[in-house]
Amino acid sequence: MTGVQRFLSACARHPVDRTPVWLMRQAGRYLPEYRAVRERVDFWTLCTTPDLAVEVSLQPVERFGTDACIVFSDILVVVAAMGAKVAFTEEGPRLEDPVRTARDVKRLRTFDPASDTGFVLETLSRLRRELGERAALIGFCGGPLTLAAYLTEGGGSKNFLRLKDLLYRSPETAHELLATLADACAAYAASQVRAGAHAVQIFDTWAGELTPQAYEEFALPYQRRIVNTVRRAGAPVIVYVNGCAGILELMARSGADVLSVDWRIDLSAARARLGSGVGLQGNVDPAILTTTVEAVRNAAAAALRAAGPLGHILNLGHGVLPQTPPECVRAFVESAQSPSLLANEG
Ligand code: CP3
Repeated sequence: MTGVQRFLSACARHPVDRTPVWLMRQAGRYLPEYRAVRERVDFWTLCTTPDLAVEVSLQPVERFGTDACIVFSDILVVVAAMGAKVAFTEEGPRLEDPVRTARDVKRLRTFDPASDTGFVLETLSRLRRELGERAALIGFCGGPLTLAAYLTEGGGSKNFLRLKDLLYRSPETAHELLATLADACAAYAASQVRAGAHAVQIFDTWAGELTPQAYEEFALPYQRRIVNTVRRAGAPVIVYVNGCAGILELMARSGADVLSVDWRIDLSAARARLGSGVGLQGNVDPAILTTTVEAVRNAAAAALRAAGPLGHILNLGHGVLPQTPPECVRAFVESAQSPSLLANEG
């Protein structure tokens, strides 16, 4: 099978010759060739210059032979286009003028994928040509709840008190913000499919910080809106939530083809709870890839065994960490490419 066939078959829960593999944040600072590009340009220039975005998107595919290539960009591109002032600092993204009131929500500009994010669409169509059949092309967007978290907090957060203040004190305004973000993300994701993405992943990383009740009210309906739009555009959808063990069945109600799960749950337990109607992606702890090649092989083998061969995409439970030695990423990818190597280790 080609990488494209293998990846799309796994999304559809059809048989595969072997489990497909890729890694969230597979293009990033752990790679010397990425750091070499970043020495010349800042992160935002990298995201908005198709020549450079194509180059770094392809780096992990060429080095490791992953079965999928995720377009190099960031979930905050959409909110920047809507008028948020986003700066990427050493400590992560910073947003000026956080969104905390109904007036702030009204200030957000309507978003048009072609005129506001043409650079991403151009990167995708060029990647699709460069990749041919060897790897599936993945487009992505943020989940509305996660984007709302950055807009209200003004950056990363530990307790998400600003976000939760909005959800619990002013639910109507929260819903207005989330609906605005969902419409923008749905249009953005569908335009990525038209530009050549084989599949779309929704990164709703921080939705796992909510109670199950709040997830059902504030995250699920907006994920569903994006899933429906992308599926109508003809591509499968992966939904990722970090810390999803307590909301797995709710997450499945998003209608996603594949649920991307973190390492706090065993994949066999996830499978038992969900049945065979949905694919699973994951779920090795990214910290293990900062340790030894042997530990990586064991963790990948355990994930492959727990998931079984049908409807599984081998991945991490969150993004590759900057401290990761590239040899550990190679060992991880090889675990899917040559499962016989694992069997020999006993
Ligand atoms: O997966 C990929 O390889 C595609 C690229 C990608 C990036 N960000 C590149 C990036 C994707 C899919 C994202 C999604 C994203 N961005 C998420 C959701 C997934 C997750 O990791 O939780 C979130 C929450 C963001 C917001 C964001 N952007 C943060 C928190 C940071 C700082 C953290 C860090 O690693 O520095 C960024 C910056 C960012 N986005 C970098 C990369 C490679 C590092 C920028 C650099 O080169 O200095």
